[in-house]
Amino acid sequence: MGNPIPEFTLNDGLKLPAIGLGTYSLKGNDGVRAITNAIDIGYRLIDSAYNYENEGTVGEAIRRSSVPREKLLITSKLPGRYHEYDQAVTAIQESLYRANLDYYDLYLIHWPNPIQDKYVEAWQALIDAKKWGLVRSIGVCNFLPEHLARLEKETGVKPSINQIELHPYFNQKELRSFHQEHNIQTESWSPLFRAKDSDLFSNDALQDIAHKHNKTVSQVILRWHYQLGSIAIPKSASPERQLENISIFDFELDNSDMNTISSLTRPDGRIQNQDPAVYEEF
Ligand SMILES: NC(=O)c1ccc[n+]([C@@H]2O[C@H](COP(=O)([O-])OP(=O)(O)OC[C@H]3O[C@@H](n4cnc5c(N)ncnc54)[C@H](OP(=O)(O)O)[C@@H]3O)[C@@H](O)[C@H]2O)c1
Repeated sequence: MGNPIPEFTLNDGLKLPAIGLGTYSLKGNDGVRAITNAIDIGYRLIDSAYNYENEGTVGEAIRRSSVPREKLLITSKLPGRYHEYDQAVTAIQESLYRANLDYYDLYLIHWPNPIQDKYVEAWQALIDAKKWGLVRSIGVCNFLPEHLARLEKETGVKPSINQIELHPYFNQKELRSFHQEHNIQTESWSPLFRAKDSDLFSNDALQDIAHKHNKTVSQVILRWHYQLGSIAIPKSASPERQLENISIFDFELDNSDMNTISSLTRPDGRIQNQDPAVYEEF
């Protein structure tokens, strides 16, 4: 890996590594092997969700890894169908049972589902789960500024983190500034635009930057996330690509590199047009 992974400090004091492992689709024995390998080579932040149906896989990988549980930072997420307070509390307990963990380090509301309009109730359940010691830090995913402001206004508690779709084709400039202004940490999902299904990796500008720094395109993109101040959680099942993806702390992009990558953004750059103002997931 080379240089150690730096940390970002959340507004509640919890420190998170500047990069983590996404686990969507990592399940069963293959998933356990992939996640165990990631932990063994240096990943400490692992991103899971109730709806990925792999909290059990993550728990097993933790137990098989060479790293004690307390040195790891494990995330899971509350599904949209359990936003009602009592159901949210039960879902958090079920998440813990599935992973066979006593606590999550980070628990997030997966989508705001503004038409369903129960995310404030779900947030109250996360606030209480934190008080009861079931989770160390609470945050959200896919929240827009109006959703974030409403949580704080109605409960007095601000999320520590907002995990959002963020990659060179959708750089989320406005939402990132809102986060910065309100001391909410940005975390990037699909930070590589799901790599294999896209033409991003063959983009000439990215290839030139990679060549200049003697790095891969993936490393350049993940370094861009870091220098934007966001925690990227690339998913890889491959030991080689897992190592490649965390080996980004021994070089620096200059302003021109950063601007070139940021300028690839486009208004319709979301992968599947999942605009949280209207898209809902249960
Ligand atoms: N909160 C939300 O709503 C939300 C939504 C989507 C995702 N997420 C989280 O974010 C994580 C990451 O997003 P994602 O999985 O959608 O996409 P991603 O991390 O952008 O891309 C994953 C894909 O890129 C490939 N890949 C990884 N490293 C590579 C490299 N160095 N070179 C070439 N290909 C590479 C992987 O293949 P291999 O496995 O074969 O390497 C995989 O197909 C998810 O796993 C999940 O934990 C959250």
